[in-house]
Amino acid sequence: MEGRDAIEAAGAARFPQHALTHTLITGASAGLGLELARLFASDGHPLVLVARSEDKLRALAETLRRDYEIDVRVLPADLSEPGAADYLAAHLIADGPGIRHLVNNAGVGAYGPFGERSWDVDQRMIQLNVTALVGLTHLLLPSLRAGDGYRGILNVSSTAGFQPGPLMAVYFATKAFVTSFSEALHEELRGTGVHVTAFLPGPTKTNFCTTNQMIPAGVVADDGTVDEAALVEFKRREAKRMDAGEAARAGYEGYLTGKAMVIPGRRNQLLSMVPRVVPRMVVRRMVHGMMKK
Ligand SMILES: NC(=O)c1ccc[n+]([C@@H]2O[C@H](COP(=O)([O-])OP(=O)(O)OC[C@H]3O[C@@H](n4cnc5c(N)ncnc54)[C@H](OP(=O)(O)O)[C@@H]3O)[C@@H](O)[C@H]2O)c1
Repeated sequence: MEGRDAIEAAGAARFPQHALTHTLITGASAGLGLELARLFASDGHPLVLVARSEDKLRALAETLRRDYEIDVRVLPADLSEPGAADYLAAHLIADGPGIRHLVNNAGVGAYGPFGERSWDVDQRMIQLNVTALVGLTHLLLPSLRAGDGYRGILNVSSTAGFQPGPLMAVYFATKAFVTSFSEALHEELRGTGVHVTAFLPGPTKTNFCTTNQMIPAGVVADDGTVDEAALVEFKRREAKRMDAGEAARAGYEGYLTGKAMVIPGRRNQLLSMVPRVVPRMVVRRMVHGMMKK
């Protein structure tokens, strides 16, 4: 046995049941991942925090150790690099604690007409949003299955996955994948003690829009001047976004009660019904219109 099979087998063999202790959270340096880290920590779960920004992870780890007296480890990694999941899993199996809860949260979006986009950027998005998530799930599942007590995987998807997303075609498609994959696993693993939840936030107040350059072009011109009216409209829409702590709490509680899918907030729940009742052609045109704004 070699390569990935060996990593999976080593994971299952190395962790006796009592050793599944830690919660691994990807994208823990900001936004929903950081809020999820706080929630797990506040219930006494020791953590392994993953993201690229080592300084932010270290600062968060220090705060959580101090506030909740738990073990918090930091594992900086760029999950958009090929092989990142193998690197993380191999590191954990050789050196790290057993993972009881895997929170696949790290993700990015990217805005713009598909035909004008860089393949490199889209490939890295797929690598992060899909390949790393599936990879970590593959590699850690054998040890999760071998464990006991409440354990499992919380995958952060999005209500975006319910419909096609013209102008964010690849991002919406990655989230459709995450929801479908997570729901399928939830069913496959029913009765094994390993719980899988798809967490589908709608628009949430995090760095997501600024990181992913989703501030509409009309707000800031190429020369840096700001259109005040467009900025007011942008802020008005931003204010409707859900608080990240509130959204994360719904995901956390839904995961701990074994839900297959969690959509936080009434507004998101209602809006997510639209693509299920309105004809597909209407939905994709509606989304296109909204995305142009
Ligand atoms: N905000 C929303 O409106 C919204 C709605 C639905 C779903 N979501 C989903 O929620 C998840 C979290 O997003 P967020 O809104 O919290 O965004 P955010 O505030 O931008 O946080 C993203 C997190 O992912 C990490 N990350 C980004 N690229 C990474 C990489 N290559 N390798 C490792 N870590 C990486 C970032 O840390 P570093 O930069 O330090 O690496 C950061 O910790 C994503 O999966 C997103 O699709 C967000």
